[in-house]
Amino acid sequence: MKKIEIKTQITIFGSTEELPTIVNDLMNRAIEAKQNAYAPYSKFKVGAAMLLEDGTIITGNNQENAAYPSGICAERVAVWKVSSEFPNKKILKLAISASSSSQILTKPVAPCGACRQTLSEYEIKQKDNIEVYFMGEEGEIIKTESVLDLLPIAFNNTFL
Ligand code: THU
Repeated sequence: MKKIEIKTQITIFGSTEELPTIVNDLMNRAIEAKQNAYAPYSKFKVGAAMLLEDGTIITGNNQENAAYPSGICAERVAVWKVSSEFPNKKILKLAISASSSSQILTKPVAPCGACRQTLSEYEIKQKDNIEVYFMGEEGEIIKTESVLDLLPIAFNNTFL
């Protein structure tokens, strides 16, 4: 028997003003993308923006459905847009912002488990890490260097 400690390192920025300009611009695109979220049921809007290696920015937002499980998160809309339109372009950075109609979200809103799994597929495929930055509506931003920092001991294609 052995015990192993798994550590994840995060960087916390106090506000968007502390972000490097390129990330601040990307976060602004995520914030903008929230406006087109279709979230009539949860009233919880999420925007995601991905910076590709050639400078292209692709955005996504959550799209809900009256049959609740048929809806989809912002991060998966964004990554599937990238993979379907630019399958060979690497994703360098992902910025995420969320807003709720019931409270001002002042803490970073982390991507859900299903999105972490989906994003990890493309991070592994491109053989390069994707930096992830996430926030609520205002306040601190958390950065991880990689999707896999958010999903240790992940399921992946080596098991298949
Ligand atoms: N949502 C996202 O878009 N991304 C996440 O990582 C967490 C949750 C969406 C799904 C649903 O439309 C709403 O937020 C409430 O869960």
